[in-house]
Amino acid sequence: MPQAVFITGEATIEVKEVAKLSPGPGQVLVRVHAAGLNPADWKMAHMLWQVALDTIPGSDFAGTIEEIGSAVPDGVHSIGKRVAGGVYGYQRKFDNLPPLGAFSEYVVVDADLVWAIPDNMTYEVATTQTLAALTAAQILWQSLNAPTPEAPAKEPTPLLVWSAASGVGHWLLQFAHLSGLKVYATASQKHSERLKALGAVDVFDYRDPEAGKKIFAATKGSLTQIAVAETTQDDVVNIINAFGDNGGIFAACAPFLQMPNSTKPVEFVPSIVMTLYGEPLAPPFNIPALPEHRAAAAVFIKRIEKLVSEGKISTLPVRVFNGLESVWQGMEELRTGKVSGERIAFKIVA
Ligand SMILES: NC(=O)c1ccc[n+]([C@@H]2O[C@H](COP(=O)([O-])OP(=O)(O)OC[C@H]3O[C@@H](n4cnc5c(N)ncnc54)[C@H](OP(=O)(O)O)[C@@H]3O)[C@@H](O)[C@H]2O)c1
Repeated sequence: MPQAVFITGEATIEVKEVAKLSPGPGQVLVRVHAAGLNPADWKMAHMLWQVALDTIPGSDFAGTIEEIGSAVPDGVHSIGKRVAGGVYGYQRKFDNLPPLGAFSEYVVVDADLVWAIPDNMTYEVATTQTLAALTAAQILWQSLNAPTPEAPAKEPTPLLVWSAASGVGHWLLQFAHLSGLKVYATASQKHSERLKALGAVDVFDYRDPEAGKKIFAATKGSLTQIAVAETTQDDVVNIINAFGDNGGIFAACAPFLQMPNSTKPVEFVPSIVMTLYGEPLAPPFNIPALPEHRAAAAVFIKRIEKLVSEGKISTLPVRVFNGLESVWQGMEELRTGKVSGERIAFKIVA
């Protein structure tokens, strides 16, 4: 029997046997060669969302297609093809479906939600991309309705990417740069040169309480759009200080942030990447299925595949752990702040 990591209690995970899944119509079965770690994974394992109990954590996977379900159009995929993608499993227990998550030897996934891994990219690198890339795509192209690489900005409109050295921020910076935006960034200063090489006009330290005011000065009060990756509630006033006097849109993948009273009009647009999978979201989110988000996800995956295959995306360094048994160790590294400007992958197939 294949194995998977299960959340079996608060801050408790176990590797257990799990029934092998079969792909449904329009799906493929993927043998997972490497799984990628995201902050949501340790947050779920620590039961920040009670619903996570008895589910398999992990969204990001990379592997080979082992079986193709019915209704997948001929020629789209082939057995053995190297693909990466994301799954969203914890809703499934509410629908009485078998458990699914990336910290597992197999996943089933909709055939249009995987992207082909280029020959020059390892499974370990590929597996650390999808959730961050989809989150960035959602912030940029759903929340901010920003230009795209196919139809880039005609004017160099400024955008602030807060936390550009995070997984989500790294994609935000590159997506925005490729879409013709003039990107200002925040990150630890050690990442500054690397982020400038990816298109950031300037990089400010998010720990500097004056960062927002400095960005306001650098943009001459013209900033109306801010894309936020990692942040804390304590950063919010600093971030808002970067807006011009007319305020603007504060788009963040942090749904529980509170906006303070501000003299600048700020529209807070939170996003949750799981809505892209087209299923309803269980508590604490309570969001119905959004078919338009599911349709957007397929467009985003195609865009990711194209940009990666064209070599237009630079990936963060990856630290590799071995096996499902190492998942807890990786989660602890991330939870305790020992991951900076890098991503963590778990090698599943030796
Ligand atoms: N709502 C959603 O759907 C969704 C989806 C994906 C992620 N998220 C959330 O988005 C956040 C980022 O995820 P990720 O995968 O990009 O994380 P990540 O790659 O693990 O982020 C690590 C980076 O966070 C930066 N950081 C730490 N504290 C910060 C702060 N106060 N302000 C700015 N940057 C800070 C550090 O940057 P330096 O190295 O520069 O210090 C570090 O490199 C997480 O909170 C995650 O839970 C939400």
